[in-house]
Amino acid sequence: MSNIDLNRIPRHVAIIMDGNGRWAKERGMARVQGHKAGMESLREIVRHSSELGVQYLTVYAFSTENWKRPEDEVSGIFKLVVIYVKSEIRELSANNVKVNVIGDWSRLPADSKDAIQYAIDTTAANTGLQFNIALNYGGRAEILRAARLLAEDIASGRVSAEDASEDMISDRLYTAGMPDPELIIRTGGEQRLSNFLTWQSAYSELVVTPVYWPDFSPEEYDKAIAEYQSRDRRFGGIKA
Ligand code: IPE
Ligand code: IPE
Ligand code: MG
Repeated sequence: MSNIDLNRIPRHVAIIMDGNGRWAKERGMARVQGHKAGMESLREIVRHSSELGVQYLTVYAFSTENWKRPEDEVSGIFKLVVIYVKSEIRELSANNVKVNVIGDWSRLPADSKDAIQYAIDTTAANTGLQFNIALNYGGRAEILRAARLLAEDIASGRVSAEDASEDMISDRLYTAGMPDPELIIRTGGEQRLSNFLTWQSAYSELVVTPVYWPDFSPEEYDKAIAEYQSRDRRFGGIKA
């Protein structure tokens, strides 16, 4: 933590946890083994987020496009959700972490949904790190959902079309009430957002590391935060 300024920690960090499949392939293992190894990274990164004083951590676990993958990989990922909750809920509770799931998780298998509901209920009163897990999440689907909710309010006369504002969209996203992520980290080297936080990422700083997610450590996390802290964020203005 030596090279980072603890007074300028981003409030909201979002992570695209990519590279599990390649990590497994390099070891001659099945892709699901990569996802399992990724779960271990996640434990460390959630813990380190709390230590650093990050207020919101959002992780991309399964996208609306990931249904295109072979059925055994998809079901393997959802089984890991159940295993993750069982193995982590004690530590999450002890660390005052509040679990939230973003995305349309109604489409997940019943045992995964039960595990998610249990994690949400068990940590509902916690006041520490807000931990958002994006499952069956897509940024465009999220914006469409917000637009539909706003359209309903307009159709019913609760809101007039002329008054429609950016805040009214933000308030209808899964992340309503949360600050936009100042920092988005992508592991695995790809330089794209892959439908993650499409609305919220408008002014996020992007840090891409070639490190595969199962190898992403608290040290790598510190490096990403140091990189974020070195950026000049202008928001369309000019350097102060
Ligand atoms: C990210 O790792 C996890 C999910 C998308 C569920 P990948 O499985 O995409 O790993 P690579 O990109 O194939 O290495
Ligand atoms: C993004 O990774 C989704 C998650 C990390 C859950 P992908 O591996 O699905 O993204 P692409 O296919 O490289 O864009
Ligand atoms: Mg990938």
